[in-house]
Amino acid sequence: MTIKFGLIGGGVMGSALLSRIITCGIYQSSQVIVSEPQASRRSFLEQQYGVVTTTDNSAVFTQATDVIFLAIKPQVFSAIAIELVDAINININNGFSSLVISILAGVSLHKLEAAFAKLPIIRAMPNTPATVGAGVTAITAGTNADSHHLETARKIFSVVGEVVEVPESLMDAVTGLSGSGPAYVAIMVEALADGGVAAGLPRVIAQQLALQTVLGTAKLLSETKLHPAELKDRVTSPGGTTIAGVSELEKAAFRSALIEAVKAATIRSQELGK
Ligand SMILES: NC(=O)c1ccc[n+]([C@@H]2O[C@H](COP(=O)([O-])OP(=O)(O)OC[C@H]3O[C@@H](n4cnc5c(N)ncnc54)[C@H](OP(=O)(O)O)[C@@H]3O)[C@@H](O)[C@H]2O)c1
Repeated sequence: MTIKFGLIGGGVMGSALLSRIITCGIYQSSQVIVSEPQASRRSFLEQQYGVVTTTDNSAVFTQATDVIFLAIKPQVFSAIAIELVDAINININNGFSSLVISILAGVSLHKLEAAFAKLPIIRAMPNTPATVGAGVTAITAGTNADSHHLETARKIFSVVGEVVEVPESLMDAVTGLSGSGPAYVAIMVEALADGGVAAGLPRVIAQQLALQTVLGTAKLLSETKLHPAELKDRVTSPGGTTIAGVSELEKAAFRSALIEAVKAATIRSQELGK
């Protein structure tokens, strides 16, 4: 069967995507090739997903007809790109002009287009919850990518969560919010559980209550489309417990801390991209 989908880098993000792409039937195992240097990961990927693997990144470019997905660390990108020049030409001469999708943090469309000239490119920024199918991915199209390519990228990332399209100028802000956001939320869950323990709850129960409160509130807001302020107003009864807690959050500048965290992470992302 023709190889349609190529993955370069079968690590955490690459294999999470691969798993769901195959489960959801976007591509069949026999249509996938994965390039990965580590022998143990290659045999895992072969056994778990039934895909062909290689250590040769060029083989991915010369064989995959539809999509080439880059999931390597940004630090190795330049070295890899240099090795691929001939393979990219073969890809184009074979009439594939495969769509290149990159999830490399901080690697701009400008850099990607310099490396993969003439190929259509989509830059994407997923987040860690994608590994459990609950992520959100921002995508942005390069010069040679058309609406059909964007649709393909949407289809691929929708198997690991929601997808939004943004201009590339907003990718740093995406990194500051949804990219770094799982850490902020994890700290919040930990702190809520600590509060529960301080109030006398056993650690295990406090952890469960904290986690399910965050999960449940997110689900409620998502399903009802309630504005967060509206939900807050509904659960704060006059002179009650919740307004006493909210008052302490305001005193500690909780909102401002989150706003500043997103701004600081955005600025850091801009600095790292230079
Ligand atoms: N994890 C996230 O939540 C997240 C979110 C957004 C974006 N991203 C982006 O996703 C990319 C991958 O992140 P990750 O967390 O999945 O990292 P990872 O687990 O380290 O995966 C990278 C994989 O690429 C392999 N690799 C290294 N050199 C290679 C080469 N020359 N050719 C082919 N494969 C090579 C690595 O193998 P070895 O282990 O043998 O080096 C590893 O299996 C990064 O660019 C990151 O910026 C990740």
